[in-house]
Amino acid sequence: MTEAQRIFSGIQPTGYIHLGNYLGAVRRWVDQQSEFDSFFCIVDLHAMTLPWDPKELQERSVATGAMLLACGIDPTQATLYLQSHVPAHSELAWVLSCIARMGELRRMVQFKEKSKGETESVGVGLFTYPVLQAADVLLYRAHGVPVGEDQRQHVELMRDIATRFNSQLGEVFVLPEAWIPAAGARIMSLDDPSSKMSKSANRPNSAILLEDKPEVIAKKIRSAVTDSGREVTASPDKPAVTNLLTIYSVLAGESIAAVQERFVGKGYGDLKVALADVVVAALSPLRERYEELMADPAETARLLAIGAARASEVAATTMADVRRAAGLVPPA
Ligand code: TYM
Repeated sequence: MTEAQRIFSGIQPTGYIHLGNYLGAVRRWVDQQSEFDSFFCIVDLHAMTLPWDPKELQERSVATGAMLLACGIDPTQATLYLQSHVPAHSELAWVLSCIARMGELRRMVQFKEKSKGETESVGVGLFTYPVLQAADVLLYRAHGVPVGEDQRQHVELMRDIATRFNSQLGEVFVLPEAWIPAAGARIMSLDDPSSKMSKSANRPNSAILLEDKPEVIAKKIRSAVTDSGREVTASPDKPAVTNLLTIYSVLAGESIAAVQERFVGKGYGDLKVALADVVVAALSPLRERYEELMADPAETARLLAIGAARASEVAATTMADVRRAAGLVPPA
């Protein structure tokens, strides 16, 4: 039997996991974990690239672990851990920052968006963030990186950095590929279908959180913006309805065409009522498991520590090769 291909992905513990994270990434991790040698990382170091509250970071890191377990990540199959528990991530990030180029980091769309034009006053970490992300994946020599559409550019950058390292210093890294789903890769905000659903929007009705109660989910969907016209159809001039249909389609496991068929002769209001039922049915079991897990955060912390021990072993092997290739003298 050939060895299973390895995959790596990460999620920031900033704020709360939302439906976009779930459909674009986490749900697929759950499906993929039995097929691939999977590493899923809660990237707490990335959560420090914008001003942060230490107490909140600590709480959210464990809570994010609990939510990933509630979503179905199985620690006996996948390696689930906190990034800061494996110091090799930071160490490799330094080495790769000596390989990456200013110009290529300046082109990163997320840096432009998150720095909001204040490129002189934001933290340096926000600029070098994609290098740490490259280190995350390259450290495990992962082949696949299951992510949403917004991470495509970061995965392309890690391929460029890996290619440059391999050609300058020797073949150490595997070139990873972005695995982006055909549907659900870019879920939009409910209150503004021109911006993606995001943890940092700070508008209560923009995102459905996985821990939202049924009545909150129904209210958010009821207040979602819709488009002009009346027909429930997906099309470029109906971005809001297309987004609602996409969410329905992915969660119900039906094609968009089949979902549209259900709403022939009906209106946006009918779609919203039915969508709320589909979302509540999908998320309620996750919320219930999450609440149980949060009653005993020490157990989640224990599982994350087991993941970190396994991740550290794999990371150490790669780092030994990196040090050798880079000319760093191994400890005697
Ligand atoms: P983060 O925490 O912003 O998002 C986690 C995952 O959710 C996906 N996602 C979405 N998918 C569909 N629709 C949306 N509206 C939506 N919003 C977010 C993201 O694409 C991502 O897959 N930099 C990364 C974390 C990271 C990482 C890594 C990912 C750090 N190191 C290495 C992969 C590999 C981030 O901030 O994701």
